Amino acid sequence: MSAYLATPLPFPVQRPSGYEPLGEEPAFDPARHLQIEAPETVIPLKEFGYTDEQITQCPTDFGATSVFRVLSDEGAACMLDVARKLEAFTTSNARISRNVRGGAYRSTFLRDLCQCPELTEAMSAIAGIPLLPHTLPHQLGHLNYAPFDVTENVDKWHVDTLRFDFVMFVTDPNTVEGGEFQYYLGTKEEVAALRKAGQPLDPDKIVSPAMPGPGYAVLQQGNMVVHRAKGLSAPGERITMVNGYVPRDIAFPDFSRFDQLALVDPKDVAASEYARHATWMARERLTARLAGFAFSDDTAAMAEEFEDFARTMAATAQQLRDAGKAEVEHFGDG
Ligand SMILES: [Fe+2]
Repeated sequence: MSAYLATPLPFPVQRPSGYEPLGEEPAFDPARHLQIEAPETVIPLKEFGYTDEQITQCPTDFGATSVFRVLSDEGAACMLDVARKLEAFTTSNARISRNVRGGAYRSTFLRDLCQCPELTEAMSAIAGIPLLPHTLPHQLGHLNYAPFDVTENVDKWHVDTLRFDFVMFVTDPNTVEGGEFQYYLGTKEEVAALRKAGQPLDPDKIVSPAMPGPGYAVLQQGNMVVHRAKGLSAPGERITMVNGYVPRDIAFPDFSRFDQLALVDPKDVAASEYARHATWMARERLTARLAGFAFSDDTAAMAEEFEDFARTMAATAQQLRDAGKAEVEHFGDG
């Protein structure tokens, strides 16, 4: 880990076209709405089967937590109220039938909750490294709603195109049948190989954490932990909220994938957010370099730093040019 910690990027002051504010909604009050309790257990990436070499390439060896409480009863009631109001704006993609993305532009409650410093601090303590609320606003407060077709899974097996996120139940999971959040106690390479061979996932490795009620969550290193949301087995209301984070140490490679984001969000919003996020990362990388200034005659190292920066910028530009050529990536339903 490098010594420099990135300066946070504020939420955009502009609102994208078509994202009108909800209007009437509760005001977020961390003192009343948060009730953060530490998870009892944290499962390291090693237990998922990742090698030491793979783990050292990650910002932390943290994999996933046991279920822990995030919201108070009052906070959970307000979150449910807001999520129901946002349900009017669901969209579909190849992985999820009904989700709301960009809700943080529409709802001040959701935005303030997702960016709450106390919440970010708690997630950083659990992950073991300093985190910041995701700098792509569409990776904040993602909401999933049960599909109208009850036989369909809420979300297919996948890894996230971000580093860290928590999955929190907004509705009470104990009032419906099914609809579990599940993760796989194996590696993403193992799941990809099973899928390629047309074989099912090992049922003994599928974990369905018991959720005591609304406002409880699991934090995960989302790009390393394969997870999904099962469908309900009888009609009912199931809503979950997923909040994303980036490591504050920007020395780690960015996991954002514009090719994927462009498939699920409006093009102008996805592109503008991605370009803004990449510009912030570039600024912070250069600032980190200035902060670490020292006299040296190692011209090869200096040249390599500039070349690395140029490669990163070129890769960002290429992602923007390639948009539209990809498909939504996932590991299917089973
Ligand atoms: Fe996910």
